[in-house]
Amino acid sequence: MSEPVLDLASLELDYEGFRRLALDARLSAHEKIGFPPAYREGFEAAIFADILAKLPRLAAERGLRVVDVGPGCAGLPRRLIELCQARGHTLVLADSPEMLALLPDAAHVTRKCAGLFPKNAGEVGAALGGPADAILCYSVLHYIYVDSNLFDFIDATVAMLAPQGRALIGDIPNHSKRRRFFATERGQAFHRAFTGAAEAYEIAYDTPAPGKIDDAVLTGLIQRAQAAGCDAYLLPQDAALPMANRRDDLLLIRP
Ligand SMILES: C[S@@+](CC[C@H](N)C(=O)[O-])C[C@H]1O[C@@H](n2cnc3c(N)ncnc32)[C@H](O)[C@@H]1O
Repeated sequence: MSEPVLDLASLELDYEGFRRLALDARLSAHEKIGFPPAYREGFEAAIFADILAKLPRLAAERGLRVVDVGPGCAGLPRRLIELCQARGHTLVLADSPEMLALLPDAAHVTRKCAGLFPKNAGEVGAALGGPADAILCYSVLHYIYVDSNLFDFIDATVAMLAPQGRALIGDIPNHSKRRRFFATERGQAFHRAFTGAAEAYEIAYDTPAPGKIDDAVLTGLIQRAQAAGCDAYLLPQDAALPMANRRDDLLLIRP
């Protein structure tokens, strides 16, 4: 496994921060998308399988319209590009110009749409050429939270969905779920093994957690999508995924 050249955990990342990482030639693809190598190397096949289990039409049908919001530049979008090419799907990739430049152009299926989503939702919809059958936004929502209004994000995503279309807003760090896990003996053992610390990990309750997505935020997003006509579910990740004990997936389905 490669050694990190930056302390990614100390970076306060947002859309602009990722633009800088994309241009940093010292970084691996996983580091450019903000992940220490241990969080992604060797896990992409399992992550992609979990995504396809929640967006099954991607692998079962042909000629769909697909959007990836925040694809980054590592293995997941490459797997999605290949799948879309094989199934004849139209794929729009929406990220910064610097990140998109690191992804291949697959002439028949890929259109790149540079800019900050959801502000550029109109351009993404125009590039797609019709309503979306599948929208993937994986490990991005916590950055959209920093730059934009999450209700605007839900509104724009729901507005793009075709009937029976699905949006998977995946790999969301849920502060409440994290606290629930680390309050258990299994969570404490996980913390000791990860940090090497012997002492108990104190969990703070009844304290503000600015900038963190928690149960309250996710419940609000579910209700926002439901009010706009979508079914909405909070789902666990496959337990084999590296952050399944503290992350959730939000699935929107237009009936
Ligand atoms: C942690 S990476 C995830 C990449 C990829 N989805 C994956 O899981 O491998 C976050 C990505 O989202 C992009 N991003 C962040 N905020 C965004 C926004 N508002 N609109 C579009 N892309 C955004 C970043 O540039 C970065 O490529």
